[in-house]
Amino acid sequence: MAHIESNNLTEAYPMVGGDDAYSYANNSTYQRGVVDAAKELISEAIADKLDLKILGFDDTLKPFKIADLGCSVGPNTLLAVQNIIEAIELKFQRTTNLHQKPSALEFQVFLNDHSDNDFNTLFKSLPHARKYFAAGLPGSFHSRLFPRSSIHFVHTSYALHWLSKVPKEIVDPCSPAWNKGSIQCSESNIEVVRAYSTQYKNDMESFLNARAEELVPGGLMVLILAAVVPDGIPLSNSYVGVFNNILGSCFNDLAKMVRINDSKWKLIQ
Ligand SMILES: C[S@@+](CC[C@H](N)C(=O)[O-])C[C@H]1O[C@@H](n2cnc3c(N)ncnc32)[C@H](O)[C@@H]1O
Repeated sequence: MAHIESNNLTEAYPMVGGDDAYSYANNSTYQRGVVDAAKELISEAIADKLDLKILGFDDTLKPFKIADLGCSVGPNTLLAVQNIIEAIELKFQRTTNLHQKPSALEFQVFLNDHSDNDFNTLFKSLPHARKYFAAGLPGSFHSRLFPRSSIHFVHTSYALHWLSKVPKEIVDPCSPAWNKGSIQCSESNIEVVRAYSTQYKNDMESFLNARAEELVPGGLMVLILAAVVPDGIPLSNSYVGVFNNILGSCFNDLAKMVRINDSKWKLIQ
């Protein structure tokens, strides 16, 4: 039996569940734009790089396994999955020896997010006429999620830039990296930059090590993440930086009015 490592240190802040006016499902058109923008690039990557022969799909039919990591709730993950399946079916038709209708190929799709994600709403929103078998997969993508060599295609959109936790130095008043009053990486303090980038490096390493075990040889991975600041431009000069500063200042005002409790305040101190 394989040892399944769970990352107890991961902090989870799921998107707002349900489907009302304040839900993520109804407030994620920006992320929807990211899925739309990536559609053509993903189709090209599948056409050029996914080798169905190496994956063993040229003369054998077996389930093609896809994972969307950090899926959240709402239409975006379902749209991304649909785009991926359409591109793979096209590739299948063009390049395999089976000459079967694309429907002969069966897909299994794993929708992953933290266990606090509103999987119930997500499951209810699955299209009735979908071309895949769907399964929810709770857990952090910074740890192993799948058995070794079992996934053919990994996709993640607008989720991998999330850190697994706030670096502890950031919230320690005795540390030179204390980021008092700010909710983002303030580039004026090199210690703060170092703390955030070390955390990011460690998280990316954990993510990539886990996926390296899980992807079958010849599998494909598509990572779409926010990279908003070109080299040399301070974060505070980007629109995200400006937005975060305004949001941070609102949090500070709320904290002064004692509208949020101590543990949440720690995150922004
Ligand atoms: C902004 S949402 C993006 C959701 C969806 N991919 C989209 O494009 O609309 C980011 C999601 O990543 C999830 N997430 C962040 N860190 C994660 C982790 N370590 N493991 C699994 N999911 C994670 C969050 O819970 C959240 O649902």
